[in-house]
Amino acid sequence: MSKYIKFLKCSKCGKTYNYEDKPITCVKKDLGRLDIFYDYERLKEFYTKQYVEKKPLANQWKYIDLLPPKNESNIISLGEGGTPLIKAGRLAEVLGIRNLWLKDETRNPTGSFKDRGMSVSVSVAREFGFAKLTTASSGNAAAALAAYAAKAGMEVYAFVIEQAGYGKIAQLLFYGAHVFKVRGLGEEDPTVKLMRLTYEKFGFYPSPSFGPFNPYQIEGPKTISYEISEQLSWDLPDWVYVPVGAASLLTGVWKGFRDYRELGLIGRIPKLVAVQSSGNPPFVRAFKEGQDPHNIRPWKNPHTVAWGLEDPYPWDGDGGIQALRDSGGDAEEVSDSLILKAMKYLASYEGIFAEPSGAAGLAGLMQAINEGKVDKGDEVVVLVTGHGLKDPDIVKEVAGDAPVINPDLSEFQTVLKERYGWKEH
Ligand SMILES: Cc1ncc(COP(=O)(O)O)c(C=O)c1O
Ligand SMILES: [Zn+2]
Repeated sequence: MSKYIKFLKCSKCGKTYNYEDKPITCVKKDLGRLDIFYDYERLKEFYTKQYVEKKPLANQWKYIDLLPPKNESNIISLGEGGTPLIKAGRLAEVLGIRNLWLKDETRNPTGSFKDRGMSVSVSVAREFGFAKLTTASSGNAAAALAAYAAKAGMEVYAFVIEQAGYGKIAQLLFYGAHVFKVRGLGEEDPTVKLMRLTYEKFGFYPSPSFGPFNPYQIEGPKTISYEISEQLSWDLPDWVYVPVGAASLLTGVWKGFRDYRELGLIGRIPKLVAVQSSGNPPFVRAFKEGQDPHNIRPWKNPHTVAWGLEDPYPWDGDGGIQALRDSGGDAEEVSDSLILKAMKYLASYEGIFAEPSGAAGLAGLMQAINEGKVDKGDEVVVLVTGHGLKDPDIVKEVAGDAPVINPDLSEFQTVLKERYGWKEH
């Protein structure tokens, strides 16, 4: 139980809040994020490397001292987190670097890292006494929310973008959410509009995966950084590559490293690199052009194979930009074709099947290596954030279908040559 939450503070106006007052959004309606501050002085008394290492890394609730809710009995968990950090030898060789690790978030209960945040958010909803939840999402966050709400016996109203992959819709429908595909993705995200209206008019608990409408969920993804620190025996990598939509994952990953730096467990933060598709790069542009982090220009008509990253406005862009500045990081804008290539590389060299959004981090690394930004000997972690089965339509578009043959060996050989380019030795 985190007895250690000290206060929350609006990232825009600085107004502070007590957790006991159940704050969710800033009363000034300034779209600030209520960042959670912990009592690091008290935590330092016992939160050592030895203390952390003593508990098995079964799931993210091992880090309960640094997570809401306050009362442990309110935790709603499906075993999220505790994902493997895989040394990617074959892929590293192909890319020409020596030390590459993949943080495989596809293994989470609903197939994406969003489970971490939604587990925390639904636990807080229970602690605050809500039973009806509303969300806006490109698909993965809503699917995760629906699973945790099912476990908690709560109702979900989910507004997803019209283009959301059917894998995600199927999950949502089966978990029992009331799902709506909302038309009109433009500068104003229509899913966010409906989530906001149902929060303001009907009092539903807002549970998207970005901070201005729910400050608790962002505490989930920060545990990725706790896990990386521990899995690399506190010897941090040079780089961590992060796919970016709303920049909440990036903000969360940064917060995790900051928590550990504050507690004296690590001395520095790895250079964080934000990756977006050139079909929707508002965050990368904001960073490169030095735009006001609180006033990032939304992208008009986002369109990318990485639908999970299609937020026209990065709601946590202010946190994300601070993350890049504080860590001395960078940002990469990659083509959709490079994302699809990265997806293929992950599957065919490392056996990890990611959706395009989940493979975008690797695409960013591939580009950075080509541009000479990463040295051969650098240690790199790439977050692989969502499972390939989420998006069967894209997979079919890229990989096609399997050939159909008769049970005949010579036909097998003919098609093998034609379709797969097989040569007799
Ligand atoms: C698979 C996947 N990866 C990465 C992201 C990006 O996370 P964020 O929106 O927090 O930047 C998303 C967001 O939906 C996602 O679904
Ligand atoms: Zn405020």
